[in-house]
Amino acid sequence: MDPWHTPEEAAAWDASAGSHLPTRMEQQDLLLALLTESQIDDGAVLDLGTGSGLVAEAVLEALPGTELVGVDFSPAMLKLAGRRLRRFGSRVHLCQGDLSRPEEIDLPLRRYKAVFSVQTLHHLDNREKAAAFAWMAGLLGARGLVVVIDRVKVEEALFEDWLVTWRRVDPAASGTYAEHVAELTEAGDRPATLDDQIEWMKAAGLATSCLHLYGNRAMLVGRKSE
Ligand SMILES: C[S@@+](CC[C@H](N)C(=O)[O-])C[C@H]1O[C@@H](n2cnc3c(N)ncnc32)[C@H](O)[C@@H]1O
Repeated sequence: MDPWHTPEEAAAWDASAGSHLPTRMEQQDLLLALLTESQIDDGAVLDLGTGSGLVAEAVLEALPGTELVGVDFSPAMLKLAGRRLRRFGSRVHLCQGDLSRPEEIDLPLRRYKAVFSVQTLHHLDNREKAAAFAWMAGLLGARGLVVVIDRVKVEEALFEDWLVTWRRVDPAASGTYAEHVAELTEAGDRPATLDDQIEWMKAAGLATSCLHLYGNRAMLVGRKSE
């Protein structure tokens, strides 16, 4: 199941996070570009599923005037994040919370210029994902930004076609659809289709588009209206 609850699992995930996913750094660069161009200035950003703080660290470096709130439900991951982000001092607030029950999360700040989430929301079921998008939109001011970088579901009828495209970035990719589903189940991964994710973001009141996609790895961008 989820590989981040014990200190050993969290440390192992942290050590390999940048290497096992070939699209990760490109999409992280795009996230940084979107945030940098969004005049966040001395406002605040919210990182949902902050993990060991790898993405948060890059964001805090790119936005020197900005505060960041990082939410995660794993104390082991938050401990790693605390160590990694200590040098940013009072600009960082780490908060334990479960995104499947966002209304119970006691956020230290109530208004954000941007909310982002990397490789996390696919752990929620579909009802929880839709509710999480609505909650995120409610935390944003006018023209607030949402960026979600995450897995999307591979349809069974297109599995072989997905493998052909994915081998361009991971030549070892192979296996059957049943094996793919078994791997997802084992890891507690529940990716939704791209169409569903876009629909839930739109239903939350966000103008939404998928602005980067490679295989089953998407970057969805939403903007709240004026
Ligand atoms: C794959 S890691 C990604 C961490 C970080 N965003 C990154 O990209 O480096 C997923 C993180 O989501 C957290 N997570 C998973 N389900 C969660 C939930 N329901 N509520 C809060 N955090 C959750 C895990 O503890 C883990 O730290």
